[in-house]
Amino acid sequence: MRKLGIHLLLPLVAAACAAGNTAKGSSAEVPPASTGAEAAPMARHARGGRLFDDWAKATGTAFRPDDPRTPALDGEGGPFGNGTLPDHAGRPMPNTGHDYRLARLLGRDLRGASGAQETCASGETGRLVPALLADTDTEAQWLSRMRDGEDGIPAYGTVLDDAALHDLVGFLLAVRDGRLPSPSALVAPSTGTRCGFELTARGDPERGQRLHAAQCASCHGDDGRSLALGGSARLSLGDFVRNRAPEAWYVMLSGKAGTTMKGLLESPIEPAVLGSALADLFAAYGEPQRFPAP
Ligand code: HEC
Repeated sequence: MRKLGIHLLLPLVAAACAAGNTAKGSSAEVPPASTGAEAAPMARHARGGRLFDDWAKATGTAFRPDDPRTPALDGEGGPFGNGTLPDHAGRPMPNTGHDYRLARLLGRDLRGASGAQETCASGETGRLVPALLADTDTEAQWLSRMRDGEDGIPAYGTVLDDAALHDLVGFLLAVRDGRLPSPSALVAPSTGTRCGFELTARGDPERGQRLHAAQCASCHGDDGRSLALGGSARLSLGDFVRNRAPEAWYVMLSGKAGTTMKGLLESPIEPAVLGSALADLFAAYGEPQRFPAP
């Protein structure tokens, strides 16, 4: 199997702990998922997106990642009980700020180290070089890479079962191959902007606002200010998109694990128009007069 040739790019934004990992991984294949009674494809994609965001929350696993600021491996949970996951060779992999979350390792916009340097988001360290959107590896290659670990990717097979690994890879490759909306239609890296990206969605903000009223306002409020988002940052929904768009696309598609929020993939919206629905929402949230700060 062709290797990713992954290197950790350090530091990106926050001060990062220096740790390199360029070792080569093993490559056993993951057997295909059972074809018995399965969830609908879009629900499986939604689960895949939540696993990409935060595998521990998405599976209800108690896991407190190793603290990247200390040399000790001092988290909780995982196969070693110390908040780390193994690398391809079975050794505990220290947390360099990615918290073992794939959205951070692959880049929230799936462009790896060439993606947006998200200067308004936290935890932006330890991102890997390869850009998934430009990758051509097969599903089998990605499944074994995720299961066994490879270079900077931990061995998720130690915490995820085969069905979860299939949902995760299924989501990623559906985005890569254009079967699900890609972040590249919504957001582009830009060094000249405050948050390291620009919104590029060519949607219709009027339509986006109507979709928000129908599908989002019951929880987020008509102007997106009812829920404080982003943990300690306390952003309105409009602010969240304007500050953290590379994260917003997959949360809108897949929902947020550990909360009541379901994504558009589990809504009545037809898969064929999901891309334009997302573009319309992004266009609306991009306008502070429609969706103001808290
Ligand atoms: C059933 C209630 C509900 C609905 C409907 C809902 N959301 Fe949410 N949403 C939430 C909750 C709860 C959170 C998490 C808040 C927090 O961080 O504690 C959230 C978080 C978010 C976030 C931030 C995610 C993050 O990583 O912190 C975005 C973006 C978002 N919602 C967009 C939307 C959009 C767009 C819609 C409509 C398509 C929508 N939501 C519909 C409840 C809802």
